[in-house]
Amino acid sequence: MTLLLRKIKEIRNYLRNIRCQNNSIVGFVPTMGYLHQGHIELIRRSKMQNDLTIVSIYVNPLQFGAGEDFERYPRDLERDLSICEEEGVDIVFAPLDEEMYPEKPLINIEIQGLSNILEGEFRPSHFSGVCTVVLKLFNIILPDRAYFGEKDYQQLKIVERLVKDLNIPLEIIPVPTVRDEDGLALSSRNTYLKPEERESALSLYRSFLLAEKLIKSGDRDAKLIKEAIREFIMKHPHIKKIDYVEVTDPDLRPVEEVKEGDRILLAVWVGNTRLIDNWRIGDANL
Ligand code: PAF
Repeated sequence: MTLLLRKIKEIRNYLRNIRCQNNSIVGFVPTMGYLHQGHIELIRRSKMQNDLTIVSIYVNPLQFGAGEDFERYPRDLERDLSICEEEGVDIVFAPLDEEMYPEKPLINIEIQGLSNILEGEFRPSHFSGVCTVVLKLFNIILPDRAYFGEKDYQQLKIVERLVKDLNIPLEIIPVPTVRDEDGLALSSRNTYLKPEERESALSLYRSFLLAEKLIKSGDRDAKLIKEAIREFIMKHPHIKKIDYVEVTDPDLRPVEEVKEGDRILLAVWVGNTRLIDNWRIGDANL
């Protein structure tokens, strides 16, 4: 039976008691809800590695900029709870805004050189909002392990660095992106896409395969690869604009010469929906 808790005090007391009795190892899956197979993979990994699995469901207002999709972000707690129940999640922590932010936090967390590039260039306060809520959740739950999807690769790298710099006593476990059969990376925001837009959104994944082909055939110049990706994606209908296409090493440093293990990262507007995706070079079975 999954236990739903909404108050910080409740979850702290509950976990304190459990830890006193059983010394349980706690796995934590932070989410903004509207759970899909990507979240389910995180939950399953946590279930495999820990005694207790906690999922948080909270659409964090602090990580949305003005004019972004905070209001229309999909929410369905009942559906999420039944997924958690099915997956054997022990606790769902779904706090209300007044619980998480009784007053507007004054803290501003910057991971220099990581927060302000790529996503950070287009969403300037986004990662400070992510780091603030993640740190609050870590302090509330005190997990032994926390699970983050590679779908948000920059977020993963930033949270890893946050944990390292502040000696937060937990392990971050990265989990590979889950894609639909046709290659579209799963995201709660995919629900915004009209069917014809979804078709064009496949160009993101397909551009990664194109890049892999070019690299396999000997094209290793990052500039050339990025141009080929842009050109390929822009050919599709409903693509409004590309915010960025970058090729970096695994630590998000841009590269000039592409090699296996590097990452392609991109953000693309399909109609009014902004999608991000990334790809580890060498992962395609061509
Ligand atoms: O990846 C997400 O869903 C969110 O950024 C997170 C980590 C739950 C923080 O709100």
